[in-house]
Amino acid sequence: MELRSVEELMDLLYACRGSWDGPGLRSRRVDLHQHALQTAALLRRRRPADKELQVAGLVHAIGPLLRPGDETAHPGCAADAVRGLLGERVARLIREHHRREPPADEDLLRLRQADEEGRSVGLDAGVLEDWRTVLELVAARNSRLEAVD
Ligand SMILES: [Fe+2]
Repeated sequence: MELRSVEELMDLLYACRGSWDGPGLRSRRVDLHQHALQTAALLRRRRPADKELQVAGLVHAIGPLLRPGDETAHPGCAADAVRGLLGERVARLIREHHRREPPADEDLLRLRQADEEGRSVGLDAGVLEDWRTVLELVAARNSRLEAVD
């Protein structure tokens, strides 16, 4: 499934409310929606200028909604869904953030770290609406790049 607009992506991120990565993972305490917001907020704090990295943190969590049950497929599904909209770099970060085989660059390590830390109950990570303009910015930049190619 490929997402065609920021609106579709926002809908999917809203649908992460009340969803967990897997049946045994309710012990992780926060749902995928909160996990997405926290991962993105941690990256925004650490890399304020890198909107693509922040957006990768936000969007990496949609995999379980696209392919329920098949955990190993989640990063690839999420990456494929957003590649056309948000670009190759965002897709690559999402696809590889769970893989241990490829050499991890600093961006991947930051994403992994935020992914692990972004599951705490008390962390105020704001609301999804805060990210709409950031998503639109990254999508617009990507569509301009595609037009040049
Ligand atoms: Fe995650």
